[in-house]
Amino acid sequence: MKVLVTGGLGFIGSHTVVELINAGHEVVIIDDLSNSSLDVLQGIHKITEILPEFEKIDLREKPRVEDFFSRHNNLDGIIHFAASKAVGESVQKPLLYYENNLTTLVYILQQTTKLNRQNLIFSSSCTVYGQADEMPIKEESPVKPAESPYGNTKQIGEEILRDTCKVYEDLNVISLRYFNPIGAHESALIGELPIGVPQNLVPFITQSVAGIRGELSVFGDDYPTPDGTCIRDYIHVVDLAKAHVVALERLMNGKTDQNYEVFNVGTGKGSSVLEVIQAFENANGLKVNYRIAPRREGDVIMAYADTTKSNEILGWKSQLTLEDAMRSAWNWEKYVRKID
Ligand code: UD1
Repeated sequence: MKVLVTGGLGFIGSHTVVELINAGHEVVIIDDLSNSSLDVLQGIHKITEILPEFEKIDLREKPRVEDFFSRHNNLDGIIHFAASKAVGESVQKPLLYYENNLTTLVYILQQTTKLNRQNLIFSSSCTVYGQADEMPIKEESPVKPAESPYGNTKQIGEEILRDTCKVYEDLNVISLRYFNPIGAHESALIGELPIGVPQNLVPFITQSVAGIRGELSVFGDDYPTPDGTCIRDYIHVVDLAKAHVVALERLMNGKTDQNYEVFNVGTGKGSSVLEVIQAFENANGLKVNYRIAPRREGDVIMAYADTTKSNEILGWKSQLTLEDAMRSAWNWEKYVRKID
C-alpha cells in the first residue's frame, strides 16, 4: 500500500516510516525540515535499506499541497504527524500553532476527501483529557478545557475530523491519543532530537548524563502520589510506531466500526518521575544527578491509559519496557554526541 507520512522525519514520524517499510508498505514523506533534518532520511535508509520518496513541503502552502496530491492521487492512506508540539512556545505564539496544526489539517482533509481511498490517521494526545477524574483513562473520559494552545489544537483537530467524517462517508479516520512517547530505534540511527533545552523528561535526562545540561530538576515531590512525583504513561516510540501501522491497516482493510474512531496509545502502566530516573540508572548503570524543584505550572498529577480498547479492537499491545526505552534513549544520545 502507498502511504503518505507528513512530518515523516520527526521523532514519531521517522519511527513510523521504518515500521511501515518493515510491514511492506511504500512510503512517501512530506516534511518541512523545521524540526528535523535530512540525516533522519539517511537513518531510515540505513535501517530499512530503502530510501523513501521525500518532498520538502510546508503544508501551509496550499498550492503546493494541491500540487502534491495531483501528482500522488493513488495514495491508500495518510498518516498526518506534521505539527508543532512545544507547549510553552504555543502559549507565546498561539496563531503560529493554530496555523501550523489546524490550517494544515484542513488542507490535508480537502485533498484526502478527493482520493479514491480516504484513510487518515491523526496524531492526537492524552493532553485532551487534562487531569482526568479516574485512572486509568478510558477513551470515553471527558475532554477537559485545554491548558495551552498546543493542547487546544489537538482537541480542535479531533473536532474537525469528527465533523468532517459525518458528511464524508467515504472518509475513514482514526485519532491516536498518545501518552508520553520516549526512547529510540534499537539501531540508534534515529531518535528524538529536541532543539534547545529539552522540555520533556527523558531527553533532559539523557542530555544531563551526557554532560550537556546541568542536573535534572524534578518538578515537585509533594503531589498526592506514592513518592510525591507526577505519574505518566511512558510508551516506547517503536511500540507507538507499530500502533500506527496496525491502525492504518484497520482503515485500509475496511475493518472500522465507525468512520471516526479514537484509541489511546500507552502501556497502561503509570511511572513516577523518580521511577523513570531509577529505570534509566538500572538500564544503563549510570547515575542521574537531580534535585527536587518547585512544581511546573500546568502539569497534571497523574495520567495513564486504559488500553483495553486498543488491545481488543485495534489488536495492538505495547511490548517494550521502560528500561528498554531508557537503554535505547541513552544509546541514541551517545550516537548523537559521539560518546563511546
Ligand atoms: C508534555 C506536555 C504535553 C505534550 C507532551 C508531548 C506539558 C505540561 N505537557 O507532557 O501536553 O503532549 O509533553 O511529549 O508540557 N519533568 C521533570 N523535569 C523535567 C521535565 C519533566 O520533573 O526537566 C516531569 C514533569 O513534571 C512531568 C514528567 O516529568 O511530571 C513528564 O514531563 P514531560 O516529559 O514534559 O511530559 P508531559 O508534561 O507529561
